[in-house]
Amino acid sequence: MKNLLVLFLFLSCNSVIAQPNIAWKSVAPGIWSAKVGKPDSFNFYTAIQTKPRIGALQLMEAVNFPLPKNDIKATIIDGKTYLHFPLDSSEKIFGLGLNFKTVEQRGRIMRLHMDHYGGQDNGRNHAPVPFYISSKGYGVLINAARYIDVWVGTAVEKDSKHPPVIRDRNTDRKWSASPYSDNIEILIPAAGAELIVFGGPTPLDAVRRYNLFNGGGCLPPKWGLGFWHRTPTLYSETDVMNEVKEYAAHQFPLTVIGLEPGWQSKAYPCTYEWDKGRFPHPEVLMDSLKNRGVYANLWMNPFISPDGELYKPILPYTASHTVWTGVVPDYSMPQVKKLVAEHFTKYLLSKGVSGFKMDENDGYDNWLWPDVTRFPSGNSAEQMRQTYAMMMQQVTANLYRQKNTRTYGLVRGSNAGASSFPYVIYNDYYSHPDFITAMINSSFIGVLWTPEVRGSASSEEWLRRMQTVCFSPLAMINAWSDGTKPWSFPEVEKQVQDIANLRMQLIPYLYTNYADYAFYGTPPIKAMNLVPGFNVNATLVNGKLNSVDNPYAKATKHEIKDQFMVGDDLLVAPLFAGQKSRKVVLPKGKWYDFYTGKLAGEEEVLTIEPGLDIIPVYVRDGGIIPMTSPVLSIGKEKLPVEIRYYGKKESSFQLYDDDGESFDYEKGKFTRITLSVKKDIAGVLQGAVSIPSGARVWSYGDFNWHFMTP
Ligand code: GAL
Repeated sequence: MKNLLVLFLFLSCNSVIAQPNIAWKSVAPGIWSAKVGKPDSFNFYTAIQTKPRIGALQLMEAVNFPLPKNDIKATIIDGKTYLHFPLDSSEKIFGLGLNFKTVEQRGRIMRLHMDHYGGQDNGRNHAPVPFYISSKGYGVLINAARYIDVWVGTAVEKDSKHPPVIRDRNTDRKWSASPYSDNIEILIPAAGAELIVFGGPTPLDAVRRYNLFNGGGCLPPKWGLGFWHRTPTLYSETDVMNEVKEYAAHQFPLTVIGLEPGWQSKAYPCTYEWDKGRFPHPEVLMDSLKNRGVYANLWMNPFISPDGELYKPILPYTASHTVWTGVVPDYSMPQVKKLVAEHFTKYLLSKGVSGFKMDENDGYDNWLWPDVTRFPSGNSAEQMRQTYAMMMQQVTANLYRQKNTRTYGLVRGSNAGASSFPYVIYNDYYSHPDFITAMINSSFIGVLWTPEVRGSASSEEWLRRMQTVCFSPLAMINAWSDGTKPWSFPEVEKQVQDIANLRMQLIPYLYTNYADYAFYGTPPIKAMNLVPGFNVNATLVNGKLNSVDNPYAKATKHEIKDQFMVGDDLLVAPLFAGQKSRKVVLPKGKWYDFYTGKLAGEEEVLTIEPGLDIIPVYVRDGGIIPMTSPVLSIGKEKLPVEIRYYGKKESSFQLYDDDGESFDYEKGKFTRITLSVKKDIAGVLQGAVSIPSGARVWSYGDFNWHFMTP
């Protein structure tokens, strides 16, 4: 009796509410949602309204709910939600934010918290997306804009179905400080949440479903995939124009010029108005840039200066606290969206500005509003912090959408649901190897990341960084503080120019990959773990591997965090300053050297010493890589296409084309050109180009095949 009373008191004080039968509801093909407890009404998907691409999801293979439902458990205790998801012994877990040092997340404990990355994969980063992908081919999203704690295969429950072996540390050498755990556990500081499960069957399919659920990936304007340069912060319009002319004089490609804080009359906090001294004629500047095929991108941060026109009208819709003495607009309020839209249109879009770099919406606790801040919408500071950068993305992206013009820009924060927004994440943490790991991780969580190039300590570092950025979602030098130029290291100027030219040449291939991101949800840059057939448990294949000497097993001991795929056909294995050789893990099938076309290997680990001029790139057997001639900017003229073909296998590639700048493609105004390679009756490979009859071709002139493999 006494015990019962104690139990009763415990239950009533702490309100333990088990959620016995979680009711899963199909919300889109291969996607299920369940609500446990009382979810917040403000979440990722209510913060930004995106529409799932149901049509594309319907085309995917039908799948069943991918997890044993009874093994997913939820309990609400003391106003917090405790979640338990099952985990198999061989399962690997990816995602859970934009990590910089680790790709595999099993064994890690994190608090997913929007922040500037501080050097540790502890959950504080620029995209703390509570979404994970399993190597078994499914994904799980927690749709709650909260600081979420995750224990990824670390916590052991007393009544676990698969308990760890009990070992004695005194005598058993196999004793481990981290005993086996069969679950992922999650704590949400809210009395409920929506859980969303994405089927596969492969990990890549689960990622695709996630991206399609978010409205598909973004399709940048073609110029967005060219070469970018950001000028020093206090440059004037004359300096900017001179910079552009210098690029032309050096015959170096340039499609976007970025202006940093000094374009504004005041910054930190911002006016979002041109500085009359440095930029007396913004529209003239914009016109002259456009005439040279160069687009302008403007830096900003969210905090508004009392000295600007926007301050007064927006004041009633700002938070209780200021940041850098600027007011913090409540981007969840329609009034803010409208005022910002009007102001940006009047001062910026109408002058010809092509996009934005939205800084400082991620964190650094001292550089953001504190969690005690009150927002007029009533949303908590925590919820605002988790979603703020996404709401800024939505407001600015919509401005361009209304003009039927695409934009492409930069942002320092993002979160779940934002795949369709045309923004690429960057930061100030300047580690080249970690930048590549972040790019790999971005592919699991529906965001894009650029390993932007700033200064370098040596010409070697400079070239190595330039090589990787040219294979990233946004090829950019950010010279905001030191004024570096591509030719700052004359001893490698030629190599830097070659790689930037290669970037421009690859635009047909890259643009097609982005179209696949938009239409099918397939990320343009991919982790090796998303490559179909990349089996970390592979044993004997083609007589080359065995269980003792298995390249996947060897490689994954150290995770694959320094090589990645661009599209389906290019495997990129960058080198870093000081590195003379490296290992490359080639997945199943034959792989060919991009530059020579020669066979490089087949499902094996290569050790290579490529020399400073080369960033190693390998092409899958049957890889068709459409490239143009090197151009300095993206114009309207049709360019000749050199179609490079590698290997021996028959194959085809659906080259995508549209006007490169509007949203008309969403209404069907695009063309897929089939490039195919087949053997003729003599067994010789022949290339063919097939344009659907009556279809329009915007960008491409003559097609010439180039069979690379000797
Ligand atoms: C930083 C940003 C840099 C640069 C700088 C200008 O916050 O990460 O890329 O824009 O601000 O003040």
